[in-house]
Amino acid sequence: MTNLKNDLFLKACRREKVERTPIWIMRQAGRYLPQYRAVRAKTDFITMYKTPELAAEVTIQPVDLIGVDAAIIFSDILVIPEAMGMKLEMIESKGPKFLDPIKNINDVDRLKEIDPTKDLRYVLDAVSLVKKELNGRVPLIGFAGSPWTLMTYMVEGGGSKNFSEIKKFIYNQPQAAHRLLDKLADAAADYLSAKIEAGTDAIQIFDTWGGLLSPSDFVKFSLNYIEKVISQIKKEKEPVIIFAKGANNDFNQLAECGADVVGLDWTVDIGKVRDKIGGKVALQGNLDPTILYADREKIKTEALNILQSFGNHDGHIFNLGHGILPDVDPENAKYLVEVVKEESKRFHIK
Ligand code: CP3
Repeated sequence: MTNLKNDLFLKACRREKVERTPIWIMRQAGRYLPQYRAVRAKTDFITMYKTPELAAEVTIQPVDLIGVDAAIIFSDILVIPEAMGMKLEMIESKGPKFLDPIKNINDVDRLKEIDPTKDLRYVLDAVSLVKKELNGRVPLIGFAGSPWTLMTYMVEGGGSKNFSEIKKFIYNQPQAAHRLLDKLADAAADYLSAKIEAGTDAIQIFDTWGGLLSPSDFVKFSLNYIEKVISQIKKEKEPVIIFAKGANNDFNQLAECGADVVGLDWTVDIGKVRDKIGGKVALQGNLDPTILYADREKIKTEALNILQSFGNHDGHIFNLGHGILPDVDPENAKYLVEVVKEESKRFHIK
């Protein structure tokens, strides 16, 4: 492992003592940055993440421009289904679309088993390149979608309003659903292990659609498979963050899935969650992303509320409660980072 000049993020993941709260921002490498849009203007999104030099360039942009304490590799969660053989398109201003969504168990059985060192070589090359270019300035986060969230996209074919297709699939073809979830858990674990091998310092699992499920179905279709992924990569000893958006029913369950850090969306009070599970895991979050539309005074007040609510403890990584929105003023993101860096110091005096 490279010697890191700033390892506050990793220390906070392990609930070690830090002099201030580290901060990074979900979707920090993205369209709110004019410098990202300039790269993107010359090419399409898929080519961008498949070209290690371009992926590395935009991964590092928010470290230079916004001052975050960690980088996250520029890529997408949908690279796994794509590597399994599904045809992926990114529709301009609409989002991802699979041309051949999964309909039944035959479709599941047709999916290829992936070898990340071959099929996702371009991501691993981007990881190595970023590590080299960062030269130890901040840690690098690798990520994958949870099996449930990946399956949702693979069955719906894209974003959705009611998520009818995925719900029909799990309730009417449970055997196919569990077979697919199993395959995805193995693929995600192999992929994350390869990323760790290539040089990432921490891993985040995005369960963006965990909140679609009832509490018992969340355990059955999402959490069980997240546990499976984590148990397979845990031997690597790298901190793992689980972010299951909207899955706010039982934080004790989430704290016991094997992750070192639980990411929170903005609908919960971080202090109350800390009272429940703060002794078991670190917490990440959880400013409402739309607060970055407000003025500086409001941004500062809301950031302070979160720091205050978490209180004088170790084990907090500041973040938004979901990804930064494309029409946010980058100056506001930069201001948030400055405020957290400065104002959090007093919560770490022992
Ligand atoms: O966080 C980062 O800066 C790293 C890059 C990153 C992207 N996608 C880049 C991206 C990460 C971590 C993701 C994860 C991802 N991808 C998730 C989970 C996180 C979340 O927000 O819940 C999901 C659900 C996806 C699938 C996906 N990719 C969607 C739904 C979209 C379209 C919506 C949108 O924001 O446009 C994408 C495209 C995408 N992924 C963009 C970026 C920068 C926009 C691409 C562009 O047009 O330039």
